[in-house]
Amino acid sequence: MMPQQVTNAIFVVPLALALVLCFPPATTAGVLYPQFYDFSCPQAKYIVNTVVSKAVAKDPRMAASLLRLHFHDCFVKGCDGSILLDSSGTITSEKRSVPNRDSIRGFEVIDEIKSALEKACPQTVSCADILALAARDSTVLTGGPSWDVPLGRRDSLGASLSGSNQNIPAPNNTFQTILTKFKLKGLHIVDLVALSGSHTIGNARCTSFRQRLYNNSGNGQPDFSLEQSYAARLRVNCPRSGGDQNLFAMDPSSPRKFDNGYYKNLMGLKGILSSDEMLYTQNQEAMELVKRYAGNQSDFFDQFAKSMIKMGNIAPLTGNHGEIRRICRRINN
Ligand code: HEM
Ligand SMILES: *[C@@H]1O[C@H](CO)[C@@H](O)[C@H](O)[C@H]1NC(C)=O
Ligand SMILES: *[C@@H]1O[C@H](CO)[C@@H](O)[C@H](O)[C@H]1NC(C)=O
Ligand SMILES: *[C@@H]1O[C@H](CO)[C@@H](O)[C@H](O)[C@H]1NC(C)=O
Repeated sequence: MMPQQVTNAIFVVPLALALVLCFPPATTAGVLYPQFYDFSCPQAKYIVNTVVSKAVAKDPRMAASLLRLHFHDCFVKGCDGSILLDSSGTITSEKRSVPNRDSIRGFEVIDEIKSALEKACPQTVSCADILALAARDSTVLTGGPSWDVPLGRRDSLGASLSGSNQNIPAPNNTFQTILTKFKLKGLHIVDLVALSGSHTIGNARCTSFRQRLYNNSGNGQPDFSLEQSYAARLRVNCPRSGGDQNLFAMDPSSPRKFDNGYYKNLMGLKGILSSDEMLYTQNQEAMELVKRYAGNQSDFFDQFAKSMIKMGNIAPLTGNHGEIRRICRRINN
């Protein structure tokens, strides 16, 4: 070898290696893709779907609850299954945060999926991926759009109670605060409006919207952006005090159907949460999107699928980060 060639080899080989490490091909660490379990656990998607279908047949609200679990997982430390951990040792569970307590549900269904997967393919499919698949299946089962779920997430070794309290939007946050919370996760106004359409299924408790019915701004007046006959109906089972946990369909016209009824409600000032109605009343761009989705369900469905994939991509653990939990409620060992 000529000295020049030797010098080249010394530089070129490490450079190529460095490039591969910095920009891995799409099929290795760092990037999620739908075929992730095609060889290691080809039945994974089928197993998830079977258990979710059975659970939703038994309890129709479960579809909404599983969809929300994925959202509350992804907004805290990324989509890493952190929401599933119970308190123990150094871990303080996210289940007791303000947005989650007395409200988030579906953990038993995730446990059942996990134990079926552990029998079929031990320690292969992450709890974080189970949440992403269950959210998609729940959407499809209630009549919504389908999409290929990118996979390959791994599970966290910890949880964040403070992250759960701070990052998940509250129903009485201002529009700007909610938009900021989405932007901090790399999501935009179009994702906010489309993903809020999840509220076409499922329930809210009286405590989540009571403020709007009685004393909205501390002035003893209700929220006038809530249609007044609808407000009167809500007051029947959501009194000034008591009944905090009473449940209300978020889309009373079709509570179990994933459709664009949510946006039609907003246009009629019948959004149950303040955070819902504000999409129509506080921002021009959001209002245009509400009108568009109210007028064209396939536009809503297309964007919903795209935004779910984006939300599912929030800071996943991949490669050798985190672990594959054997039981979703606790870290291994
Ligand atoms: C934009 C900000 C959001 C706020 C402020 C918000 C707030 C809420 C609140 C307060 C409830 C009722 C909880 C209760 O009273 O027990 C709820 C329910 C629900 N949320 Fe959201 N949410 C937001 C976005 C989302 C997103 C992005 C998704 C999913 C992608 C989602 C899915 C759901 C579902 C499906 C339910 C019903 C759950 C059930 O019935 O178990 N939400 N949300
Ligand atoms: C929002 O609701 C929480 C919980 O009910 C309450 O403590 C807080 O004062 C409310 N914030 C505003 C701005 O109304
Ligand atoms: C409304 O809320 C404000 C501030 O929290 C309070 O001072 C006032 O007494 C309340 N009014 C009524 C009618 O409940
Ligand atoms: C709804 O949007 C879809 C896709 O953007 C379009 O192909 C369709 O023509 C629209 N339908 C109506 C009724 O506007």
